Amino acid sequence: MFISFEGTEGVGKTTLIRKFYEHFQALGKDVVLTREPGGTPLAEQIRSILLAVNHEESMSHDTELLMMYAARAQHLTQVILPALAEGKVVLCDRFADSSFAYQCAGRGLSKTKLKLLNENFVEKMPDITFWLDAPIEVGMERARERGALDRFEQEKITFFEKVRSGFAEIHLQEPDRMKRLDATQTSEQVFEEAMSYML
Ligand code: TYD
Repeated sequence: MFISFEGTEGVGKTTLIRKFYEHFQALGKDVVLTREPGGTPLAEQIRSILLAVNHEESMSHDTELLMMYAARAQHLTQVILPALAEGKVVLCDRFADSSFAYQCAGRGLSKTKLKLLNENFVEKMPDITFWLDAPIEVGMERARERGALDRFEQEKITFFEKVRSGFAEIHLQEPDRMKRLDATQTSEQVFEEAMSYML
């Protein structure tokens, strides 16, 4: 089973994923916990470039999109697909939906570009995706408390509003795969709500 977790910054993805990890471990399942961009040594190197604040040169939106997919291709072939083939549960902190939300809805890149990448480089989409949704201000406050802001976290509220609407669009189009969770609840409530979809 392939499960991904999505949402804007600071909505509590990490806490929910940890709860899922413990849940599956308690059931005696083989669980792989991974993240994007990243999840392999090479993909983590790409992540560092993507998140770094570079004052010398701004990253073009196309470069950002292609690096996300370069990291994803590596992650899929090295980690996700082999784990699924071995019958493991894969829990992934962000996946291709983030590219739609951030690079298309947020940055304004065309859906045609994304579709081309997904059709050619994403062999497997998650079986279920949890979208942790909360008003942007709530998450940004939590992100700020965590310390220095990365290149994405430095974006303005209006950018994250667009990202959030991107997730809402996927949710509308693929309600069977993507489940919306009210991330303003306590972490226990969010976990319970998520679990209700796993039955
Ligand atoms: P992450 O570490 O999950 O951020 P956070 O913990 O702050 O939620 O992800 C890093 C950043 O990468 C995040 O700001 C979203 C961005 N991102 C994209 O823009 N496109 C993508 O396809 C992915 C996977 C992530």
